[in-house]
Amino acid sequence: MCHIGAGDQGLRVRIRQVTPEDWSEVIRIGKESFDYITNPGTFFLERMLKYYFFVAETDGEVVGFIDMEALSPDTASVTGLAVKKNWRGKGIGKTLLKFGVRFLRAMGFKKIRIMTLRTNSPALRLYESVGFKSVSKKGDVVFLELDL
Ligand SMILES: CC(C)(COP(=O)(O)OP(=O)(O)OC[C@H]1O[C@@H](n2cnc3c(N)ncnc32)[C@H](O)[C@@H]1OP(=O)(O)O)[C@@H](O)C(=O)NCCC(=O)NCCS
Repeated sequence: MCHIGAGDQGLRVRIRQVTPEDWSEVIRIGKESFDYITNPGTFFLERMLKYYFFVAETDGEVVGFIDMEALSPDTASVTGLAVKKNWRGKGIGKTLLKFGVRFLRAMGFKKIRIMTLRTNSPALRLYESVGFKSVSKKGDVVFLELDL
């Protein structure tokens, strides 16, 4: 499955399924995006193998990824979304998330859940801009949902 989207100012963003060759780049982006992950090599390899995992490319460079998993036959979760630091603010995160929503809808899911930190305003604004609503909070964590 491959999707061509447009980021800001006509930026061409190609979204495709992850391959083993993407592993080192995914780890690099994962490390700079989630500094609390202690063993990124194992962490992202497991996700690449078990989850619905897609990367975004511009001009052949991997610039971000989204990973998702089924929680039940009706509900899926976006478990990870990250864009390379120097490519942020160009619409790539939104292109990835909109792709993820379309993908999960096409897979037959009825609801998507996401959780993020209360302090992560870029992520919260992004989720809200795509229609996710905050449904609960626990400590520093905000839980959001989107009905498909
Ligand atoms: C969250 C993240 C994926 C956003 O990716 P991005 O490509 O920079 O986002 P986009 O350029 O597509 O922006 C989409 C929307 O997100 C919001 N947004 C993005 N960056 C923002 C910032 N620094 N401050 C506030 N809002 C921001 C805006 O609403 C923006 O829409 P607008 O430009 O129309 O206002 C990126 O910041 C990232 O990788 N962060 C580290 C990892 C992370 O926190 N992931 C999410 C938690 S799992």
